[in-house]
Amino acid sequence: MRINDNFEKLPESYLFSTVAAKLRKFREENPGVDVIRMDIGDVTLPIPASAISAMHRAVDDMAQKSSFHGYGPEQGYDFLRDAVAANDYVARGIDIKADEIFISDGAKSDLGNLGDIYSEDCVVAVADPGYPVYVDSNVIDGRGGELVDRRWSRFVYLDCNEANGFKPVPPAEHADVIFLCSPANPTGVSFTREELAAWVEYARANKAVIIYDSAYCAYITDPAVPHSIYEIPGAREVAIEVRSFSKTAGFTGLRCGYTVVPSSLCGTDAEGNEVPLRKLWLRRQTTKFNGASYIIQRGAEALYTEEGKREVRENVDYYLENARTIRETMSKAGFTVFGGENSPYIWVKSPNGEGSWELFGKCLSEAHISCTPGVGFGDAGEGYIRLTGFNTRENTKEAMRRILDFFKK
Ligand code: MLT
Repeated sequence: MRINDNFEKLPESYLFSTVAAKLRKFREENPGVDVIRMDIGDVTLPIPASAISAMHRAVDDMAQKSSFHGYGPEQGYDFLRDAVAANDYVARGIDIKADEIFISDGAKSDLGNLGDIYSEDCVVAVADPGYPVYVDSNVIDGRGGELVDRRWSRFVYLDCNEANGFKPVPPAEHADVIFLCSPANPTGVSFTREELAAWVEYARANKAVIIYDSAYCAYITDPAVPHSIYEIPGAREVAIEVRSFSKTAGFTGLRCGYTVVPSSLCGTDAEGNEVPLRKLWLRRQTTKFNGASYIIQRGAEALYTEEGKREVRENVDYYLENARTIRETMSKAGFTVFGGENSPYIWVKSPNGEGSWELFGKCLSEAHISCTPGVGFGDAGEGYIRLTGFNTRENTKEAMRRILDFFKK
């Protein structure tokens, strides 16, 4: 069998696997050293009690003939699709219906799998730095071209830097598919309504589709920051929105998220006919996916009860407070920092011009903190590291103490 050669073009391992391998090696070589993880955005608080009780009940359902569930609907159970539509959209005055919501095993899978519904010829635009799944999955699908000077020849790169506040702006070139993330991973910055409206206008003018990664929207506290791209008029015709229960309710290990494909969103076929993308995504999911598990979906449903909403708010506030601590401590110590407001991520500039991996190595070996090297999110991330607010309060404070001690030396 001939392999998909695109795999050989990719860097050998996925960013977070590379970080984890380096960390494992450091621990093996330094037994007993306590490393605080501020790298991958994995949560530390347990699953909210409302979801745990609902999942216990769902396990019991599985034990009875009368309430047993086998294969579920590939696009998700109505009980969860209805809860998402009512709470995340209709309650905010946004016109999204339950049958436009597709429940999945998480945002990462959907962001990668969406490539099945657009042509290999599409020109993809990505923010640099950005979540590596956008780039890697499109390279696997054959849309990258060649890697020249660490950039893929067929992508449009949306450079994010200090000058534009790390927010991607619509390019002069044409793109067919644009990946946007707000609040952004890794920089933690978010679009205002006006900035997002400029993207919707670009997509409409270019007959492009925005894949809007909104996994961190629960972290938004600023009223000027939109929670959903569908708050922008005209977005129903140009945007797919992807969300997750991972960072709100600790579902990183349980796996559940959803993707919104509005019925009014179309692409064009080879003859120029308009084809609803919702129909294609439904076909893709029914063919390649058997649905998220019943038990997990019952857990996610419980997050929309009054108790569940309160618990999610408490979790998010806890991580936001960690992010605030990191942002303030680092700023006071003279570091240039972005994010950490409306976001669990803090984007930190190297204080002495070190490269990202060099700073990663120093933080690990000397301060015993693991961070994510900014260059792992793209070339424009060189010279930065990302810290997360997802550790415990105690570890976050201890990590700040260690980092400051180390940089004072
Ligand atoms: C991150 O650290 O960027 C995220 O946790 C990765 C993910 O959600 O897959």
